[in-house]
Amino acid sequence: MGQKKLIRFEEIKSFDNVLQYPEGMAGKWNDHFGNDYPLTLELACGKGEYAVGLAQLFPEGNYMGVDLKGNRLWVGARKAKALGLGNVAFLRTKIDQLNDYFTHGEVASLWITFPDPQLRKSKSKKRLTHPKFLRMYQQVLQPGGLIRLKTDSPVLYNFTKKVTELYGCTVVDDMDNLYSTAGLPAELKIRTHYESLDIAGSNRIHYISFTLPQEIPGKERDEELKDWVFAQETTVEEEQAK
Ligand SMILES: C[S@@+](CC[C@H](N)C(=O)[O-])C[C@H]1O[C@@H](n2cnc3c(N)ncnc32)[C@H](O)[C@@H]1O
Repeated sequence: MGQKKLIRFEEIKSFDNVLQYPEGMAGKWNDHFGNDYPLTLELACGKGEYAVGLAQLFPEGNYMGVDLKGNRLWVGARKAKALGLGNVAFLRTKIDQLNDYFTHGEVASLWITFPDPQLRKSKSKKRLTHPKFLRMYQQVLQPGGLIRLKTDSPVLYNFTKKVTELYGCTVVDDMDNLYSTAGLPAELKIRTHYESLDIAGSNRIHYISFTLPQEIPGKERDEELKDWVFAQETTVEEEQAK
């Protein structure tokens, strides 16, 4: 491991705005923040540009970046400290274990910012908008809680659109080319590190937001989704990722 990473791993231990695999926090986040503002998570937050940006824009909300990589969280946590933001924190854990950290309805909404698109068809279950994840989000989200995805990957974007259709989600906003839309609200214009890389080479950012149905269809529908995934033509993006 590089020296820089080691220093960050050591430093982050003393940051009061970073919780690494904390135990017994489910149901206690309002106590942590010292208020009862609604809590929004940024999943796969990396350096946490959204968590920090939203906390600046909306002082009457709590924001939490979630990621596995401590050295990336260090960047967002340090920035939040420098800006004196008390309404943002970072949780180091695997997103797959979200249910261990939040009780039912404790989360008001979710942002998923440029997650790994998991381009191989055989890996589509790992996409963060796969119904496997939606079922988990439902456990922690308030009813009607908004899920917002920003991605540069047409594969992930189209997959997510299909998921919303197959699983009866209610789409609130759907923008194939986000920045071509006039009058965007400030929260949609926050730019993340990966956003600036344009890895998919699509030269456009896709955005979709939706809410979950009361009951998410069961695993038999997952087979239908899998068939759809495998029936899609392999795109250049997927080909390059092989
Ligand atoms: C492509 S980066 C995007 C980072 C940031 N949102 C951005 O736009 O710059 C994806 C992030 O997801 C995190 N990640 C991937 N799988 C994860 C998992 N299962 N649990 C937690 N974090 C995960 C990675 O550590 C990485 O920081």
